[in-house]
Amino acid sequence: MTASGFGFGIRGSRASYGGPIVRSNDHASRPLEWNRAGAVRSGPVHPSSAGMAIETPDFRRVLGHWPTGVAVVTARGAEGLPNGLTANAITSVSLDPPLVLVCVNVGADTHAAIEASGTFAINVLPAEAEALARRFADDGRLDKFRGVAWRAEISGAPVLDHALAWIDCSVLGAYPGGDHTIFVGRVLGGDGRSGEPLLFYRGGYGRVTR
Ligand SMILES: Cc1cc2nc3c(=O)[nH]c(=O)nc-3n(C[C@H](O)[C@H](O)[C@H](O)COP(=O)(O)O)c2cc1C
Repeated sequence: MTASGFGFGIRGSRASYGGPIVRSNDHASRPLEWNRAGAVRSGPVHPSSAGMAIETPDFRRVLGHWPTGVAVVTARGAEGLPNGLTANAITSVSLDPPLVLVCVNVGADTHAAIEASGTFAINVLPAEAEALARRFADDGRLDKFRGVAWRAEISGAPVLDHALAWIDCSVLGAYPGGDHTIFVGRVLGGDGRSGEPLLFYRGGYGRVTR
């Protein structure tokens, strides 16, 4: 796939998170309207329909139009064992003090590990790490860290040797966000190296092409 008109392209393959890839003759260029039954149809958006429910697959498809990087968010669980999940719901919050946030599904094993340790690390993945992204997005997989080199930096949360950049955090606050928790992290340290990032767009992984 190629995004034209932005001075760069993205090419890559499909993943299951984010919903189906929709072709260019789909609803992407038309406004959406959600009716009372939650069904999505194209057409003008009426203010009276604002706030209506939207089906999860449709919501994922719409959200998929927001291109993101891909990270593995890690934490040590109660036994000190490493946990991690692929995540793209990551945002910088504040420069002074340095704060970031991650949104983590309340049912994820990594959620429990972040709660238990009060820490997490964001590991930004490089373009060649699609396999790692798929592995850490594999629900219920117990051997996510097998063969993955990591170290503890400041907080103790796993920092992957393979990361393009890492941000080490202690949890400053945890806020309910539907089926996710918004963890705001106080940044304790971080670093980055040169290289190209892994990207996620419309349900597929890709990389920047110049
Ligand atoms: C590209 C991508 C982005 C994702 N972003 C998030 C996210 O931001 N937050 C989240 O809770 N899950 C996210 N997921 C889903 C988790 O990676 C997945 O549910 C994971 O297996 C949970 O692992 P755990 O239960 O071992 O912690 C994402 C998956 C993919 C493929």
